Amino acid sequence: MDALASSPLGWLCAGVSTLAGVIMLCTAQRSPQDKAKVLLWSLLSALLGLLCVAPLGAGGGLGAFVAVCLVCSVCLADRELLPVGDRAVFITGSDTGIGHALAKYLDSLGFVVFAGVLNKDGPGAEELRRTCSQRLCVLQLDITNATQVKEAYLKVSEKVQNAGLWGVVNNAGILGFPADGELLPMSIYRHCMEVNFFGAVEVSKTFLPLLRKSQGRLVNISSMAGGIPLPMYAAYGASKAALSMFSGVMRQELSKWGIKVAAIHPSGFRTGIQGTSEQWDKQEKELLENLPADTRQTYGEEYFLGLRKYLLDMPSHCAPDLSPVLDAVLHALLARRPQGLYTPGKGAYIPFCIFCYFPLWFYDFFISKMLSAGPVPRKLRTSRDEGRNL
Ligand SMILES: NC(=O)c1ccc[n+]([C@@H]2O[C@H](COP(=O)([O-])OP(=O)(O)OC[C@H]3O[C@@H](n4cnc5c(N)ncnc54)[C@H](OP(=O)(O)O)[C@@H]3O)[C@@H](O)[C@H]2O)c1
Repeated sequence: MDALASSPLGWLCAGVSTLAGVIMLCTAQRSPQDKAKVLLWSLLSALLGLLCVAPLGAGGGLGAFVAVCLVCSVCLADRELLPVGDRAVFITGSDTGIGHALAKYLDSLGFVVFAGVLNKDGPGAEELRRTCSQRLCVLQLDITNATQVKEAYLKVSEKVQNAGLWGVVNNAGILGFPADGELLPMSIYRHCMEVNFFGAVEVSKTFLPLLRKSQGRLVNISSMAGGIPLPMYAAYGASKAALSMFSGVMRQELSKWGIKVAAIHPSGFRTGIQGTSEQWDKQEKELLENLPADTRQTYGEEYFLGLRKYLLDMPSHCAPDLSPVLDAVLHALLARRPQGLYTPGKGAYIPFCIFCYFPLWFYDFFISKMLSAGPVPRKLRTSRDEGRNL
């Protein structure tokens, strides 16, 4: 340690490497995986710099510092983004929410954006036409309608010609009705699968020839609920899990064509997907109509009122700033080595890590503590629960 103390150059190396690590850590905002990687490398570089000074003196410290910096720069090269140039990207579900914000964001960065909308005469489509550049092209597209998917493909192919299409973002999606899986009518399971899974698969399959030409990117907006089991999301979560699995398999299969595939698992962001009171009323009516009388009795009227409160409270638990999702999609589109999975949203990776690396009983316990206690069915209610449902 004498050598360490008497070697200002060694101290300088260790100090500079620590500083470099801290700066990289502060600027790595794209994903938790990035942050963890930078944190690890900066700690390692500082430690190595320090350790090497003692036995190797200042020269050794400097050597260790340079070596670790080289490794760091290789590992962090995937944070470098390709130039936007004249890259064209096709986005589904651009009427509102994330898709709408993404269309505007990518347009502002200079992309040629093809914005698929469920209603080409609706306010979302109008706003895109009004506020975006001339490059942006709005296309009518219900992703569950095979004819519309084909028409959108033909229009995009005709417009991009030899320049090719760089990216497809499967964003369109529906939440269905968040409620106990036992209560959900089959129509909600089917509708979620139809839009969130089959729609995205059909769009991907149709547009793949264009992505093959450009060796471009397929980005699927799945959900946190597609990566981990969450109560109330049996229909939505299952359809998103199917989409995430599709993404994973496509990532493996399409790598031979040079196409990179990423799944995005956002946590809660405030958009139109959290629904309105009228929408929930309509869905709840359908749910109650389809429920066998004894199940309805078992859960009780108060339970359904509690569910309604949960749904109306949902937006208050969601982040209003969509930029973490937009950044994740941009990284998936332009990073030289994009991640296969992004988890934008505050702490979104924590439940995912617990689900992957801890016993299931612990994960279930963690989730039950993390989520606010929902309503209690009539048959399970104790005097302590009275009043909690409302
Ligand atoms: N917001 C979140 O917290 C969150 C979290 C995880 C994942 N996601 C996912 O992020 C994606 C975007 O959701 P969002 O939050 O931005 O919600 P959103 O505002 O409701 O956006 C979804 C968009 O998809 C459109 N759409 C619905 N069915 C369609 C269909 N059959 N064909 C084409 N477009 C259709 C909707 O059109 P209409 O508005 O006309 O219905 C809407 O514009 C979804 O896949 C969602 O599952 C969102």
